[in-house]
Amino acid sequence: MSILIAPSILAADFGTLNTEVEMLNVSDADYIHIDIMDGVFVPNISFGFPVIESIKKLSSKPLDFHLMIQNPDLYIDQCVESGAAIISVHYEACPHLHRTIQSIQQKGVKAGVVLNPHTPVSVLEDVIDMLDLVLIMSVNPGFGGQKFIENTYQKVAKLQQMAIKNPDLLIEVDGGVNLQNAKQLIESGANMLVAGSAIFASKNPLNTINEFKSV
Ligand code: DX5
Ligand code: ZN
Repeated sequence: MSILIAPSILAADFGTLNTEVEMLNVSDADYIHIDIMDGVFVPNISFGFPVIESIKKLSSKPLDFHLMIQNPDLYIDQCVESGAAIISVHYEACPHLHRTIQSIQQKGVKAGVVLNPHTPVSVLEDVIDMLDLVLIMSVNPGFGGQKFIENTYQKVAKLQQMAIKNPDLLIEVDGGVNLQNAKQLIESGANMLVAGSAIFASKNPLNTINEFKSV
């Protein structure tokens, strides 16, 4: 199976959002990655539910939600109503992570946990068997277009070892992912990649998505 690719809409041109989503619709992308930032958990604000509703209406691809917000529990229902196929919450924002995961899955949506660069994968030891996805941040969350953190490879490899208990686990990497580091990420154990600027700032985003799929 080729890896799953989730272009991050954050890097798209919001002035021509419909054209951007239509491009993704005809591409080989598997998901559209939706970055939600609240200006509190991360030092940036992205977009809110009205914009996400527009993306949902335009998109024929499933939506992969990445919640970079405090108190994500308050917004799970709204994310489900806005068409989320996957909802990922930050480990660092969830004091009752087990309950949060359960409440996402009870809505019939896949649940993921995101780890910031400083958070070791070992913190997930006691929940790994119930997770649909783990998202390893390869930059500090908050902004697109940052430099990839090299330590990510060994983190992904450790996670893959832990995932022996959960062979269907999606191992997603987000931040600074490009055609140069994708191969090593996949060899380390990643099976789902997010890419923002590597896709939308490229000359031909459709070709770039295609190249990611055939790495
Ligand atoms: C960072 C976001 C990423 C970002 C990826 O906070 O979570 O999804 O949009 O963009 P690139 O690929 O440009 O690093
Ligand atoms: Zn993201």
